[in-house]
Amino acid sequence: MTKPQIWVAAFLFLFIILFLIQNATKTHEPEKDFSQMGSSMMQQESNENLSGAQLMNNFGCLSCHGANLEGTAMGPALVNLKEFWSRDNLINYLRNPNSYMNQKRFQEYQEKYPNMIMPAYGNKDVKDLGKIADYLLSR
Ligand code: HEC
Repeated sequence: MTKPQIWVAAFLFLFIILFLIQNATKTHEPEKDFSQMGSSMMQQESNENLSGAQLMNNFGCLSCHGANLEGTAMGPALVNLKEFWSRDNLINYLRNPNSYMNQKRFQEYQEKYPNMIMPAYGNKDVKDLGKIADYLLSR
């Protein structure tokens, strides 16, 4: 090979290497993008494929009730709820917690968590609240 030919070959080789590197790194990225796209699309369209636990995470319940629903300084633990709630009443409660405030249990909560109120989720799809209720009552 003449000197120019060696240069051309070297450049070609370099391009091929760059091309291969680019492809190798590419294969990782689409996977990540697809999953992100998928979950954000699902949130916009419907929560149909989300479980009660996932919905609670998305709705921000865990910030007050704890990652494992063990309770925090901002909200009580969510355990043994089936002793107190029927499915329908629990859904009603989530939609309008205020209407249960005069029960003894809730007056105690008010003393234990002063300045914190359970937000109303009346703007959420009842189906989603139903899944949350099923999840909470199954624990
Ligand atoms: C801002 C903090 C906060 C958030 C967010 C929150 N809660 Fe609460 N939750 C409370 C507090 C405080 C109480 C106790 C009652 C009260 O003081 O209003 C409570 C009470 C409850 C109760 C009644 C517990 C019992 O012993 O019967 C349930 C059920 C409940 N929350 C579920 C949820 C769900 C489901 C979500 C999300 C959709 C949620 N909470 C989001 C603070 C919160």
